[in-house]
Amino acid sequence: MADSYDAIPYRSLPHPDTHPTHLAVLGRLFGLATPDPYACRVLELGCAAGGNLIPLAWHLPEVECVGIERSVSQAEEGRRAIAALGLRNIRIDATDILDAGPELGRFDYIVCHGVFSWVPDAVRRRLLALCRELLAPAGIAFVSFNTLPGWRMRGALREMLLLECRDEVVPAARLARARALLETLAAAGPVPGMPATEHVQAEVRYLLGAHPSYLYHEYLADTNEPLFFSDFAELAEAAGLQHLVDAELATAFPSTLGPTAAQWLAGVDDQRALEQRIDFVRVRSFRKALLCHADVEVRREIALGDLEALAYFGDLRAPPSLVLEGTEPQTFATAGGGSAELRHPLAKAAAAVLGERFPDSVAFAELAAVAGERVRAAGGAAWADDRTGLLVELFSLFAGGAIRAEPRARRVRPPARPAPALDPLGAWQAARGHIPTPRHQGLELDGFAIALAGRLTGELDEAALGSGLRAALAQGALATPPGRALDAAAVQANVERLLALFRRHGVIGPSG
Ligand SMILES: C[S@@+](CC[C@H](N)C(=O)[O-])C[C@H]1O[C@@H](n2cnc3c(N)ncnc32)[C@H](O)[C@@H]1O
Repeated sequence: MADSYDAIPYRSLPHPDTHPTHLAVLGRLFGLATPDPYACRVLELGCAAGGNLIPLAWHLPEVECVGIERSVSQAEEGRRAIAALGLRNIRIDATDILDAGPELGRFDYIVCHGVFSWVPDAVRRRLLALCRELLAPAGIAFVSFNTLPGWRMRGALREMLLLECRDEVVPAARLARARALLETLAAAGPVPGMPATEHVQAEVRYLLGAHPSYLYHEYLADTNEPLFFSDFAELAEAAGLQHLVDAELATAFPSTLGPTAAQWLAGVDDQRALEQRIDFVRVRSFRKALLCHADVEVRREIALGDLEALAYFGDLRAPPSLVLEGTEPQTFATAGGGSAELRHPLAKAAAAVLGERFPDSVAFAELAAVAGERVRAAGGAAWADDRTGLLVELFSLFAGGAIRAEPRARRVRPPARPAPALDPLGAWQAARGHIPTPRHQGLELDGFAIALAGRLTGELDEAALGSGLRAALAQGALATPPGRALDAAAVQANVERLLALFRRHGVIGPSG
């Protein structure tokens, strides 16, 4: 395992679902007095080069972060970033999970993403034991794993790729051979009348666009063992932990699976059996399990009133004209190409406010007040003070991941500057292919975007950035995207589009 990660380092990105504010909020909704996520200790087990942990330490300076990573070269790459950024609230230890113990101290949040299914049984058990030994009494651990039965569907392609590469031991050559098979399969396309080939084709297309380190470690690694939720829950219980909920909250609700499944599942009282059956219906392939201590009392009924204590943020885009004087359903665009339908005038106004303020968060009281004013001004006085109606739709946005919550409102957008500038974290990571946002997402960059990001030093305005990139393209110092000739107007339009994206996510400030 260590060798393969040294040979092909994993490209680790920020994962919003592992952020301590997200874990704290979910814990609180289930009755736990979770620790302050803005001034806590976070441990990440198997942190690679710190792609998730370093942005956390950068954006939350009061949080103390410790990463454990077995691959020495990845741990060293992370340490170089920490030193270059001058961070004092994070360290990465080149240690095996099997050798880690109480000397690390107590942690409020423990994150172990993309490790459990890919390590031998002894490491899995130690990892869960560490969660129990090191987790604060009301703390939360995040442990993700490949899940049965759904992963079996993806496993078909893994079996093909493993067979294709079985005579090859050099990691880079294994990757090349796997890619060649994927390209052949993609060129062949689905076979008419054979639905299974459609499924594999979708997977092939996804893998051809994915980072090679993902292809290698997910599909060509020696160990990749998916497991049933009920088996995972049993292991967690044996370690003195209990499953709280999945980090993707909506997946815990049978109501999202249609009326017949919901009716079947309504009769299942046992929590573990219920979660397992949900996975059957979803044919689920991945879980992001949140665990807490076994002796903590969990309240399974979420109280809507608890949502009033939180602040919200969301990358939402309102429809061109909002109807705030009636309950006509209207569709908001959500991040990643999704959509959400809202009816209640107060919820529609609140969603518009969140979209305007993103990436900053807005406390519920302020959100309700500003939205109420807009609804009243539009002639919807009958709805303007209906907080319960607002909470119901806000909760469904939150559960579905269209908006996120945190314990207090924060302004995270950088200040305005005359010319765009990345902060040192953004500049460091951009050179390696992505920019972490203040909301803990990773904006993936192509060659053009990396070249642009490298010029965002606060000295060049949009016109100068465009002419610099045109010159780089003309000199052959920058490759044109395959199949796309970029004339002067296209280069400028691309620069403007990317800067708008960076501003939207708060990785550069507004112009001015
Ligand atoms: C698939 S990567 C996931 C990296 C990161 N957590 C993420 O989600 O981006 C798995 C990481 O776990 C590390 N790892 C595997 N076995 C380990 C062990 N026994 N102790 C510490 N780290 C380990 C690997 O070296 C690798 O960096």
